[in-house]
Amino acid sequence: MSDDWEVKILCMGAGYVGGPTMAVIAKQCPKIRVVVGDISQKQIDAWNTDKLPIYEPGLLDVVKESRGRNLFFSTDLDKEINEADIIFISVNTPTKTRGIGAGRAANIKNCELCARHIAKVATSDKIVVEKSTVPVRTAEAIQRILKANDNGYKFQVLSNPEFLAEGTAIKDLMKPDRVLIGGQQTPEGLKAAETLVSVYAHWVAREQILTTNLWSSELSKLVANAFLAQRVSSINSISALCEATGADVSEISRAVGMDDRIGKRFLQSSVGFGGSCFQKDILNLVYLCETYGLSACADYWKQVILMNDYQKKRFSEKIVSSMFNTVTGKKIAILGYAFKKDTGDVRETPSMFVVRDLLQEAAKIHIYDPEVSREEMWKEMDYTCGVNHENTPRLDESVITSEDAYKACEGAHAVCILTEWDEFKTLDYKKIYESMSKPAFLFDGRLIMDHKALRDIGFEVHAIGKPDPKKFSGV
Ligand code: NAD
Ligand code: UDX
Repeated sequence: MSDDWEVKILCMGAGYVGGPTMAVIAKQCPKIRVVVGDISQKQIDAWNTDKLPIYEPGLLDVVKESRGRNLFFSTDLDKEINEADIIFISVNTPTKTRGIGAGRAANIKNCELCARHIAKVATSDKIVVEKSTVPVRTAEAIQRILKANDNGYKFQVLSNPEFLAEGTAIKDLMKPDRVLIGGQQTPEGLKAAETLVSVYAHWVAREQILTTNLWSSELSKLVANAFLAQRVSSINSISALCEATGADVSEISRAVGMDDRIGKRFLQSSVGFGGSCFQKDILNLVYLCETYGLSACADYWKQVILMNDYQKKRFSEKIVSSMFNTVTGKKIAILGYAFKKDTGDVRETPSMFVVRDLLQEAAKIHIYDPEVSREEMWKEMDYTCGVNHENTPRLDESVITSEDAYKACEGAHAVCILTEWDEFKTLDYKKIYESMSKPAFLFDGRLIMDHKALRDIGFEVHAIGKPDPKKFSGV
């Protein structure tokens, strides 16, 4: 090598995964040159400032530590493809919206474009790593594209799915439960996998770096997300039963989760799961099962999504039915729009579905979220729910975004907590109650509040999976 870098990495895709993942590799491996590339100039420009394009606790510090040293952000993909020894593909793979498999299959168009780009401009051998979540056997498609277009250079394709969760990305990347690397079981494939293992081995214990064949690695990612989402849907199904019987879903989660075989995590009942991964990846799994003629398996996993849809709808219906069967013209404060706390990401956020339902009921909605921009909110509302300024009259009057929680709640008939931001737990609810129309309703979609204290203030509280004291005495 003409320079002193141990190895040179390019990541194509500077999003929620590419940015944080590469920033951590750069931090942990100062002798590795890491470039994060993207086709979006706006995205790259933002990564080069202190106002990063995504909100993630601790990310800015990690970026600042390496940026300009061994971490670079660039749109010059031709140059960086040529420079790199290892190229990660970390582009978005959304659910297809049209054509064969629409609404279920993952669209791997962006992965294919990256492979074609690499094949076109590469002038040396490369290891190409699938970081994006893809249908099983996508590596085969990438390998074929690279092979069909190569100019005598050798490409090895690896699968290295990412398991970080938003809001805890830095922690997850610094201390991953495991790193999964799939490769072809040939001498060249095993050698390529070993090269990638040696990158992670800078900070991850070898026994936590799992190497498998390509297809197991690709499929494990879909299965991990399906299992996690399934737990949320399972507990959410029980939350409906709790409301009907007087049982308390938090007590059930605790009792069930204390069994070591079940475990405590991902048993928090909520208004439903959101985010860019769970639904997309389960739909992807469902489509794969269908493709291989396994309709019983497809139906099993489909149910996880149907339960999630039911949970979101159930929450909206509870608001309307509790408020005397009408919210028309009533001010409803929405606290939280992000799909979970500590992120500004709104993809598939359950809050959006509740807002859409309340809009249909002609409520006046005031939203407060500490990290979500109005622009992002409308973009996702249009993409996922088809609600936009063209097809919905007076949208800007019906949905107001407030810059603080108290303002959003002032004069409201109801407050709905839809993201579990920590700051919502410590608001002055007495002050909020006093500023509201009476009776003042509070709907807790995240189970983060002290419901007794709120009832003592005067609120009528409805919370997912919690017994209504008016219906069940002595609970
Ligand atoms: P994202 O939308 O935040 O970022 C993707 C980026 O890729 C965008 O900036 C886009 O401009 C860029 N891009 C698209 N085509 C490109 C091309 N041809 N060349 C260069 N750049 C291109 O997506 P994300 O959330 O980072 O997800 C990326 C992948 O990782 C997906 O497959 C996703 O399922 C998976 N994943 C996401 C998460 C998560 O928490 N978001 C976690 C694990 C895995
Ligand atoms: C998920 C996976 O956890 C991660 O491993 C994968 O790489 C990407 O997809 P993410 O979507 O970022 O991560 O967040 P996650 O913490 O999994 O939460 C997903 C959704 O489920 C959120 O809306 C969250 O609020 C909800 N959830 C999670 C619950 O409702 N209850 C729970 O107990 C846990």
